[in-house]
Amino acid sequence: MKRFLSSAVLTFSLFQSAQAQQHIQPAAIQDKMQWFADAKLGIFIHWGIYSVKGVDESWSFYNKKIAYADYMQQLKGFTAKHYHPEEWAALIKESGARYAVVTTKHHDGVALWDTQLSKLDMANSTPAKRDVLTPLYTALRQQGIKTGAYFSLIDWSYADYPQFLKDSSRYNAQKDPARWQRFLNYYQGQLKEVMQQYNPDLWWFDGDWEHSAEEWEAVKIRKMLTDHNPQTIINGRLQGYGDYDTPEQNFPVSRPNFKWWELCMTINNNWGYHPDDTNFKTPYEVITIFADAISNGGNMLLDIGPAEDGTIPAEEVTVLKELGAWNKKHASAIFNTVAGIPAGHFYGPTTLSKDSTTLYLFLPGNVSGQVMVKGLINSIKKISVVGNGQALTHKIVGKISWSSVPGLVYIDVPATVQDKYMTVLAVELDGPVKLYRGKGGFLTNE
Ligand code: GLC
Repeated sequence: MKRFLSSAVLTFSLFQSAQAQQHIQPAAIQDKMQWFADAKLGIFIHWGIYSVKGVDESWSFYNKKIAYADYMQQLKGFTAKHYHPEEWAALIKESGARYAVVTTKHHDGVALWDTQLSKLDMANSTPAKRDVLTPLYTALRQQGIKTGAYFSLIDWSYADYPQFLKDSSRYNAQKDPARWQRFLNYYQGQLKEVMQQYNPDLWWFDGDWEHSAEEWEAVKIRKMLTDHNPQTIINGRLQGYGDYDTPEQNFPVSRPNFKWWELCMTINNNWGYHPDDTNFKTPYEVITIFADAISNGGNMLLDIGPAEDGTIPAEEVTVLKELGAWNKKHASAIFNTVAGIPAGHFYGPTTLSKDSTTLYLFLPGNVSGQVMVKGLINSIKKISVVGNGQALTHKIVGKISWSSVPGLVYIDVPATVQDKYMTVLAVELDGPVKLYRGKGGFLTNE
């Protein structure tokens, strides 16, 4: 029995890994991160003047695909005339997302709220003539959705910000600290406006790569935001002073080394509205990517890019609705769960109930016939199909009576229980999951 608990046997707690953010102690933030860990899905909203011409958000002028003046002309075309934030919030709710992150200000410096520190905002410089952020946060909160503020540290439009275009900058921050200080006062002032007016549940910084933690005054910023709201969460783009990491577009193959993480991803290839980009991911693709993220202990922040008038592209609405229907059916396997078992035991994503006594198996593709779980030491109390409750039969294959090494579990999955996208099974165990990780010897540590 002693051998049974040897190094080749893994219990769930060992899967928890270290925190990537250099300056933040995971234990200190554990409590406030709980809702985030349980939430699994967030919706990212990139809305700005770039939706008028359908060009890349901010990057189009920085990379000189369009002249700065032409880019800024888009201010005149941002109408928000069909903008119904309560419909956005209802759609986000329907998707199953528990939080939403909105671009309060992108690298182009145009604010969605009515900032007192610049004329570059929707209320003062566009035909929309109003603060478009306030009603959105109100609608989200009414739906019980946590609010996130994307805030670009970079502001390429501001006259006292050093960088401007890819091959031209205004000055060097280190050589002109007084001028840099003017920018610091400005950006920190705007941050304070958003903090005081909206008190976001989550801050999603972006663009930290252009300056160091010292230059941005990251310590001071973190302190200001968490003094104001100790429960607020900060993403990992504050030069080491954030609470979780943010892989972007690239899907982790092995489990990331940090405790909390979130994959941010577009539905087509662009963050903002881009009518020329029709390369939309299908609901199946989005669902399987999402399952993969939660299997590895992460969240997914799925982006939508509304048009200037406030309409959300039909293809994106379809993805959100299909994802939402699938989430609703499989909620018990998704929300409030923890990362699944390591690769090698099952050919597909998995999650575990918090007490790790239920193992959820996500069947890749439309698998029917038998699926197999390897190295499961526990005995199985029951296997059922999530969302329809049907009980399934299984068989233990290859178990040697005198060896403690477990046999293979083959589960029968009839074609009749198939989900349109991904079928999920709940395997109820006799206790917290215990896995054999050995090399095939007769004892569990071999
Ligand atoms: C990148 C881009 C930015 C986009 C963001 C979303 O950092 O600079 O345009 O908003 O990713 O994750």
